[in-house]
Amino acid sequence: MRSLIAGNWKMNSLLADGRERAGVIAARAGGADVCDILLCPPATLLGELAARLRGSPVMLGAQDCHAEAEGAFTGDIAAPMLADLGCSHVIVGHSERRRDHGETDASVAAKASAVHDAGLAAIVCLGESAEQRDAGGARDVVRGQLRASVPRSADSTNTIVAYEPVWAIGTGDTATPDNVAALHRNLREDLLDILGDDGAGIRLLYGGSVNAGNAAELLAVPDVDGALVGGASLNVDEFWTIVESGRTA
Ligand code: 13P
Repeated sequence: MRSLIAGNWKMNSLLADGRERAGVIAARAGGADVCDILLCPPATLLGELAARLRGSPVMLGAQDCHAEAEGAFTGDIAAPMLADLGCSHVIVGHSERRRDHGETDASVAAKASAVHDAGLAAIVCLGESAEQRDAGGARDVVRGQLRASVPRSADSTNTIVAYEPVWAIGTGDTATPDNVAALHRNLREDLLDILGDDGAGIRLLYGGSVNAGNAAELLAVPDVDGALVGGASLNVDEFWTIVESGRTA
């Protein structure tokens, strides 16, 4: 499967540097035979990046949305608004939102469903904590999250699953290729179980301290169909090296 390399800028970048970074990536992508690329800047930069990326193969995504399509929800952003801006994807259930905003599997599923209703693709994030890993429960935790966070509206055209072990995020402590292979194999089996044959077409991304030095090895793992990159996506050259490690077919 063709790889997707997604940059999650998290709460980083002001207008000037976001514009510059997106412009360089769009220019490089325009003249290269590379895998699929998605940029997920903070909401403040979505409009600006939409203009920058217009006409380029680089796609635009948001980092979160509300589960309702509109209404009295001060400070929130609805999925149709993101579609209106030119987004194609929305990340939902990132562990930082589960941790800092009390998001549960049920609220993540509701958001993913709202993303689907808006005609966009949801990137549903899953991953075990260090305590859960140490207790030997990673597989069960991740399986439970998958079953409860992926809504009934999911199919291979509108859903991507990102496995991001919490202990690997922003720590430099990447899961080993063997661990990633085992977890992704299990996720694939579960997706086939939940969605039937269509589960084979759902992209499975790995995230957690992916960088220019480890991307090629991680992206070569079976059932790793791309990467969700945090810190390293803020450096254009490092991000581009990761993009070049992805499969183009
Ligand atoms: P880092 O690549 O900084 O570890 O972040 C991963 C992540 O959370 C991407 O969503």
